[in-house]
Amino acid sequence: SDIEKGTYPHFMLKEIDEQPFVIRKIIQEYQDENDQIKLDPDVRQAMTKCDRVYIIACGTSYHAGLIGKQFIEKLAQTPVEVHVASEFSYNMPLISDNPLFVFISQSGETADSRAVLVETKAKGYPALTITNVPGSTLSREADYTLHLHAGPEIAVASTKAYTAQMAVLAILAVDTAQAKGIELEFNPMKQLGIAANAMEALCDQKEEIEQISADFLPTTRNCFFIGRSVDYYVGLEGALKLKEISYIQAEGFAGGELKHGTIALIEEGTPVVALATQENVNYSIRGNVKEVAARGANPCVISMKGLDQEGDTFVIPEVHELLTPLVSVVPMQLIAYYAALHRDCDVDKPRNLAKSVTVE
Ligand code: G6P
Repeated sequence: SDIEKGTYPHFMLKEIDEQPFVIRKIIQEYQDENDQIKLDPDVRQAMTKCDRVYIIACGTSYHAGLIGKQFIEKLAQTPVEVHVASEFSYNMPLISDNPLFVFISQSGETADSRAVLVETKAKGYPALTITNVPGSTLSREADYTLHLHAGPEIAVASTKAYTAQMAVLAILAVDTAQAKGIELEFNPMKQLGIAANAMEALCDQKEEIEQISADFLPTTRNCFFIGRSVDYYVGLEGALKLKEISYIQAEGFAGGELKHGTIALIEEGTPVVALATQENVNYSIRGNVKEVAARGANPCVISMKGLDQEGDTFVIPEVHELLTPLVSVVPMQLIAYYAALHRDCDVDKPRNLAKSVTVE
């Protein structure tokens, strides 16, 4: 292919490193000369006209959708549902009077997502596709497209597309809020710039993160990820990355759900990655860490500066509380990468997986 790894041993590592540059590119592409958001006016109109957004996606893109719901509901005050594409038709929600379907897909070719697009188009519902490939099927068949500008993503495990999806969703949410006349304190371009710098700082701490991966995951069979609020969603993505490429059985859980079942799985030495980037849940997630530690778990706490406590394993730089997922996912990606590397797994082409799944 035309895309080269350069000095990188794997595309995945290269794509992790590209993330701060992708975020800066998105800032550039979605900003006009007066530093205002520049976005297709038809998309703006569709977003302000709709009474409910239905996000449809698979895999990592679904995880970005979960964060997108937070942005759109908190900033633009429009209700959002997020659906796994393959489940949508069995579990068809009641559709509001003026729905907007938003398809999130790196490749724009995922058959499960396309099936929902075909079904909802037949009902006359408008569709927006957020994709890295503007000429793709989902882009061509939807009414509107927003481009991720992440550049080609080659590694099967998605990294830079996920952070790009969240950045574009944040911009979309703020644009909608502005169009609806909602006053915001949140300056998306400024805060995304800060997040990009934080991501870059983390990409420079690879040795430290490699060591964490080596300490926590050398021979383990399983690994759990816990978090509350958006940290829960990032934990789902952290678990997905780890299982995809290292084949360690990994699951993400909401901190509060531990006691309702999962805690039964904790044994002596079970690695538990806990995320703590949100002030309002910092106390509760710390409680969960103590609970699992008391049962013998080996907790790896990844917190944000300002919320960190003595003994935390790794501290990420401080960013706006809405944008922590863009930053906290970077150590998750790197932990998974190094776990796979040390287990001699084929990082870029994991077994049984395809980059884009064009069958339902
Ligand atoms: C495949 C890939 C995943 C990806 C998912 C959705 O399963 O292996 O990494 O998240 O498809 O892909 P999409 O291109 O629609 O974002």
